[in-house]
Amino acid sequence: MSRIYEALQKAESERKQDLAESGSSRLLSGLDRMNGAAAAAAVEEETLPVPSELVEEKIAAGAGEVLPEKGGLNVAAISRLPWSPEISRLPALLDRGPSIEQFRSLRSRVYEARDVRPLKSILVSSGLPQEGKSFISTNLAFSLARHKNSKVLLIDGDMRRYTLHELLGTESHPGLADYLSGKSTAEEVMQQPQEIPNMSPSGAHALSNLTFIPGGNGGDKAADLSSNQRFGELLRLAGDYFDWIIIDSSPILPVSDAVNMARFCDAVLLVARAGVTKYPVAQKAAAEMRAANVLGFVLNAVPDNPQVGNYYGYNANKD
Ligand SMILES: Nc1ncnc2c1ncn2[C@@H]1O[C@H](COP(=O)(O)OP(=O)(O)OP(=O)(O)O)[C@@H](O)[C@H]1O
Ligand SMILES: [Mg+2]
Repeated sequence: MSRIYEALQKAESERKQDLAESGSSRLLSGLDRMNGAAAAAAVEEETLPVPSELVEEKIAAGAGEVLPEKGGLNVAAISRLPWSPEISRLPALLDRGPSIEQFRSLRSRVYEARDVRPLKSILVSSGLPQEGKSFISTNLAFSLARHKNSKVLLIDGDMRRYTLHELLGTESHPGLADYLSGKSTAEEVMQQPQEIPNMSPSGAHALSNLTFIPGGNGGDKAADLSSNQRFGELLRLAGDYFDWIIIDSSPILPVSDAVNMARFCDAVLLVARAGVTKYPVAQKAAAEMRAANVLGFVLNAVPDNPQVGNYYGYNANKD
């Protein structure tokens, strides 16, 4: 079970004292907290030097110059497929339970980050494989999609080991690799679920707000594809329709794909796995992303704390 605790309040008060320090040392102090027993997750704003000009440029380009309305996304052309979500790995689709509260907290931190500067596309990554990038990105996407009228696009940006289609129980092709290599259009690689029986009301609502782009098979070309300008075009095109775009990615240290893709995104959310991710690995991952707007770290898979679990489990079914 994932435990995404709130560290932000404490972090926020400490952050005020830290203002004189450099961005990277604030990030490191965030990791110290998360490696401690009490604080398991933090999304810190402005943890690294901010390439605000870059973000502004991207947004200006998305405002209409590159993709005039005529060439906008044809939502009616998106296929509806029979999905079979793996509910045991998608706690954000449930009506109650401690994980819902934790993903809701993460979502609140993301909203707060959006209050500081425009934020729509968030790439989720981590230093090494198996730290929980796919788990966090998919559940964050569903948590955002639970909100009324919130249209969310979830992209499997790991074109080497694409797995999100397994979590959603759907097709893996055509996918992002097909779009980036010019074989498919944006609408052709997007899919939405047909109505799924026996879903909880909020789960059904979240599913109805979610559109998915699977990984496709990038194979050896994944590194080249990940730096293709078409990814930026996709985000601009999708940004006219979707409120949020969440991108799962490959691990940062073994391959360059995530860093390449981060250049096109508004922000990056890093994942560390409790008891697994070593401090220097998290440190290196953050350093590789220094040119990006890193929101902070989520510490994933913290062992259960029964008291907190019971408290939040109680009546935690509203959004
Ligand atoms: N909080 C969690 N609780 C329980 N299982 C988890 C949790 N987070 C991840 N897992 C499990 O750990 C495994 C790895 O998670 P996931 O696939 O999300 O990692 P990843 O970082 O995307 O890996 P890769 O780099 O190989 O793509 C999966 O089997 C997943 O279901
Ligand atoms: Mg993954």
